Amino acid sequence: MATQFKLNGKEVSVQAEADTPLLWVIRDEIGLTGTKFGCGLALCGACTVHLDGQPIRSCQTPVSVVAGKKVATIESLSKDNSHPLQKAWIAHDVPQCGYCQSGQLMSAAALLSTNKHPSDTDIDNAMSGNICRCGTYNRIRAAIHTAAAEMRKA
Ligand code: FES
Ligand code: FES
Repeated sequence: MATQFKLNGKEVSVQAEADTPLLWVIRDEIGLTGTKFGCGLALCGACTVHLDGQPIRSCQTPVSVVAGKKVATIESLSKDNSHPLQKAWIAHDVPQCGYCQSGQLMSAAALLSTNKHPSDTDIDNAMSGNICRCGTYNRIRAAIHTAAAEMRKA
């Protein structure tokens, strides 16, 4: 069946079974491979995208759920790594293997869209569903503070 939704600001229509995970639609049908598959069980956060601005686990979200809604992936942040979070990620040299990082960035982006002055606790709460096997948590937290400060200036 066809499902229509808005992806990164553009209307898309995909042919997929209603229960196909959104992650597979994004990666395999549409070809945006920034969103990663980690556990497939809503446990690691590697597949995090936004649904109407809220972070969700695309590996456990059937495509039928997003019909008529707005989905945003890591590719929506910027075309040239110029989003304050991306700049802060580079400045703090956050990633190690990098595998979890697009999910981390999407959770961070959702946090900063509603909280321009997050405390360490706010950050820890917002990021608690994103697991990093490389243990980059301290650099992620520092980078979010840097990006928040940058966004407050804008
Ligand atoms: S791949 Fe979706 S939460 Fe791990
Ligand atoms: S940077 Fe390797 S899993 Fe997070």
